Amino acid sequence: MQQRLDKLISSQGSYTRKQAQQLIKDGLVKVDGITVRDRGFHIDPEVNSVILDGKEFAVEKFVYLMLNKPKGVVSATNDRSQKTVVDLVPDELKKRNLFPAGRLDMTTTGFVLITDDGDFAHRILSPKNHIEKTYEARLAESVTEEQLRMVADGIVLKDGTECLPAKFKILEGGDNPLVEIKICEGKYHQIKRMFAAAGNGVIELKRTKMGNLSLDENLAEGECRRLNEAEVALIAEA
Ligand code: URA
Repeated sequence: MQQRLDKLISSQGSYTRKQAQQLIKDGLVKVDGITVRDRGFHIDPEVNSVILDGKEFAVEKFVYLMLNKPKGVVSATNDRSQKTVVDLVPDELKKRNLFPAGRLDMTTTGFVLITDDGDFAHRILSPKNHIEKTYEARLAESVTEEQLRMVADGIVLKDGTECLPAKFKILEGGDNPLVEIKICEGKYHQIKRMFAAAGNGVIELKRTKMGNLSLDENLAEGECRRLNEAEVALIAEA
């Protein structure tokens, strides 16, 4: 698809529209080897090659980042007083329209997908597409079979909200067991409210997987990295 050159350059996040126009004016942009000084010049990024300041300019339609969210950070694009997950992305991507695909509570840690692809976000979050989100929940008390059965069958929350059946696995037993739980929905504080309704509590919560893509163990809390095409496809696997 044909696009204006200045708009295309600024859409990649490193330059504002004004800066892109200045680069073009300064003769620093070549299209198919020829210097273009018309900022309104149209090109098709799938057909034409662009050299910007001597370097190949690769156009990425969308960006997908895996963030290992720490506690104390809000799952929002901007917030007046709190640090947001988007504040944690590299500076060169800050001008893209990035947002978190789904929210984790302030105290929840783990995998947050940050992207500018609205259709993809909608697809992976919609419960009807059955994309599982996997969490590890550290519980306040030892867990009973009855509590796990209630969660597995589709529990009704204290306010009457009905949850879809969830899958679980006990990873560690004891007084504060660690339970893996998989859900396809994203209701407000869902896992905490599910265990509260079952008569237990959640003291730590971490999202470890989205679809079939696991949180990268090498990613420290607060760090994020780009996902490749194969990894993005794993997220969308039901
Ligand atoms: N369920 C919760 O209770 N909190 C989250 O952050 C995610 C799922």
